[in-house]
Amino acid sequence: MSNLWKTKSVEQLVSESKGHGKNQELKKVLTTWSLVALGIGAIIGAGLFSLTGIAAAEHAGPAVILSFVVAGVACLFSALCYAEFASMIPVAGSAYTYSYATFGEFMAWIIGWDLVLEYSLGAATVGVSWSQYFVKLLQQVGLTLPEALVRSPFEAGGIVNLPAVFIICAISMVLIRGTRGSSRFNNILVVLKIAVVAVFIILGWSFIDPGNHVPFIPENEGEFGHFGLSGIAMGAAVVFFAFIGFDAVSTAAQETVNPKKSMPRGIIGALLACTVLYVLFAYVMTGMVSYKEFAGDASPVARAFSVTGYTSIEFLLILAIVCGFTSVILVMLLGQSRVFYSMSKDGLLPRFFSDIHPAFKTPWKTNLFFMIFVALLAGLVPISDLGHMVSMGTLLAFTLVSVGIIILRARRPDIPRKFKTPFVPFIPAAGALVSLALMYSLPTISWYRLVIWMAIGLVIYFTYSRGHSRLNH
Ligand code: ALA
Repeated sequence: MSNLWKTKSVEQLVSESKGHGKNQELKKVLTTWSLVALGIGAIIGAGLFSLTGIAAAEHAGPAVILSFVVAGVACLFSALCYAEFASMIPVAGSAYTYSYATFGEFMAWIIGWDLVLEYSLGAATVGVSWSQYFVKLLQQVGLTLPEALVRSPFEAGGIVNLPAVFIICAISMVLIRGTRGSSRFNNILVVLKIAVVAVFIILGWSFIDPGNHVPFIPENEGEFGHFGLSGIAMGAAVVFFAFIGFDAVSTAAQETVNPKKSMPRGIIGALLACTVLYVLFAYVMTGMVSYKEFAGDASPVARAFSVTGYTSIEFLLILAIVCGFTSVILVMLLGQSRVFYSMSKDGLLPRFFSDIHPAFKTPWKTNLFFMIFVALLAGLVPISDLGHMVSMGTLLAFTLVSVGIIILRARRPDIPRKFKTPFVPFIPAAGALVSLALMYSLPTISWYRLVIWMAIGLVIYFTYSRGHSRLNH
C-alpha cells in the first residue's frame, strides 16, 4: 500500500523530462508571448459569449460585473499556485505532475484522470458551442444544415452534431502537424478574438444607457442566488467556466524555451488580461440592454449588439467568435494530450500515449486517440450535460494544486523557486477553499458523475497502472 503514496522528487521529474528513449522528446518552441496567447486562447470562449447573459438575467443583474471580479480573484489564487509549480517543475503534465511530487502516485493518477474532464470535456463543450455559432454563420450566407445533423441524438430530431465532430477532427490534425504551427495558428485566432471583444466594448460604450445599470445589485428575490449578494456569488460560479483554461498553459512547460521565467508570466498575464476584458465586456453588455432581456436568450451578445444598428458587421462578429472558440478547442486538446503523454511516460498508461511523431515531434497517437474520443462526445452528447463536468474537474485540480503548494513549501523549502506564491499558506488556502465552495454550488448530478468517472479511473489504476508504474519498478 505504501507504493500508493510514494512521491517522485522534483529533481527526478525534471531529469526524466529531459528525454530518454527515442521518439519521446518534445520540441522547445514556445516563448512568453506565445504562452500568454495560449492562455488567452484557452480562456476567452463560450463562457464569455454565452454565459454572461444567463448570469446577469438569472443571478446577478448588472452586478454580473462583480461576479466576474469575484471569479477572477478566485482564479488568481490558484493561478499563483500554478505559477510557482510551473516555474519549479517545468514538465509537461501540469497538475498531474505536481501531484506526483506532492501527494504521490495514487493522487497523481486521480488528478490525471480528472483532467480528462477539464480538457476533453472542455473541448467537446466548446465544440458544441462552436457548432451553434457556425450554423448561424452559414445561415447568414444562405445555407441551412438539416436539424438532424447539428444536434445530438438526445435532442429532439437529432442524429449527430456534425460541425462539432468536424472541428474536433480538424484541430487535432493541426496539433499533430506540430506545436510551433499550432501556436502560430492560435496567435492569429487570439488576435481576432481580442479584436471582437475590443470592437464590442468600443462600439458598445456609446450605447450604454446608465438607466440599465440601476439598480446595480437588484434586490434578492427570497431565494439563494436569485439576485442580491448571493446572486453575485452564484453568478461567479456560473461565469467561472469563462476563466477555465489559464492552467492549460502549464501543460506546455516542456515545450517552452525558458519555462522558469515564461511560465509564471504566461499564466498570470493571460488571466489578468482576460479578467480586465471580461469586466469591461460585462459593463458594456449590461449597459446596452436591460439584464432582464437576456432571459432565455441563446445569443445574448448578438442581442446586445443589435442595439448599435451596425448590422453589417454582425457577420464579422460571429466569424470572429467562431475563431475564438476554435482556439479554446485547440489549447484544450493540446493540454489533454500533454497530460496523457506524461502519464504514459511514467508507465501509468500504455507507451502508445507517449510516442512522438518522428517528423512533427508531437504525441500524435494521443492526439488521434482524443480526436476520436472528443469527437464522439461532441457529436453525441448535449452541451448542458458536458459543461458542469468541466467546471467540476477543473475545480478539483485547482484544489489539489493549491494544497500542494503548502505541502511542498514545508517538505522541500530548499528547491529554488523562480516564482513564489505570495502569502503562503493564506493564498493557497484561499484558492482551495474557494474552489471547494464553487464545487459545492454545482448540481448534485455532477457529483454523481464525478464519482462514477473516478470509479472507472480506480479500476484502470489497480488493474493496469499500478503494475506498470515505472516508479514502482
Ligand atoms: N474558458 C473557456 C470558455 O469559456 C473554456 O470557452
